[in-house]
Amino acid sequence: MQSEEFIIAAAEQFAKQELEFDPSGHDWWHVHRVRKLALELARHEGANLFICEIAALLHDVADEKLNESKEIGLYKVRSWLITQRVEDSMIQEIMTIISTLSYNGGKNPPMETIEGKVVQDADRLDALGAIGIARTFLYSGIKGQLLHLPEKDFQNVDYRSNHKTAIYHFYEKLLKIKGLLNTNKAKEIAESRHRFIEVYLEQFYREWELEDL
Ligand code: ADP
Ligand code: NI
Repeated sequence: MQSEEFIIAAAEQFAKQELEFDPSGHDWWHVHRVRKLALELARHEGANLFICEIAALLHDVADEKLNESKEIGLYKVRSWLITQRVEDSMIQEIMTIISTLSYNGGKNPPMETIEGKVVQDADRLDALGAIGIARTFLYSGIKGQLLHLPEKDFQNVDYRSNHKTAIYHFYEKLLKIKGLLNTNKAKEIAESRHRFIEVYLEQFYREWELEDL
């Protein structure tokens, strides 16, 4: 296996090459923020820094939304790790993290390792707060979703369907994240980001109903 520094630098290049111009909120700077958050959480939890950093860097290269299928995305990452001569047991650990990380409407199984918990929390924290709101509208715009349909209930619509609204996504995911985080440090960071989303929605409805005139 190459040195850890070498592999991290190569993973950074790989993620940049794959995601640099992604317009749906999964661009390189999302990866960069998740990596920094993951390292911060990993230090608090005593998790393996290398596993957390590499999984954070590669987590969206395999995303099913950005690939022809989930399998093709995962194959791309696994093949890359093999070319870097990463140890088999580590490849297994990293692939388990990446394949169960996504929110997926809350349907994925719980993370088993502390490294998995850390990277999942880091990705979820980036879906909260001012940045999370911005990413939701970016994603919605790209997918052609409407802003808000006040009389419509999307509860029975599939999580991956793009026939919902940006505001509905706050309820199907953003407001639930706080209660789904694994680590204490992430829960602490989530408090103010969650509150910001609530305040944002309050103001959104005030303007929608012209209650601010
Ligand atoms: P997941 O795909 O597991 O929901 P991601 O981290 O890949 O999570 O999502 C990327 C960003 O796009 C997040 O900020 C997320 O909240 C947003 N997003 C995902 N699905 C939708 C959707 N249907 N409508 C609006 N935003 C979405
Ligand atoms: Ni992500």
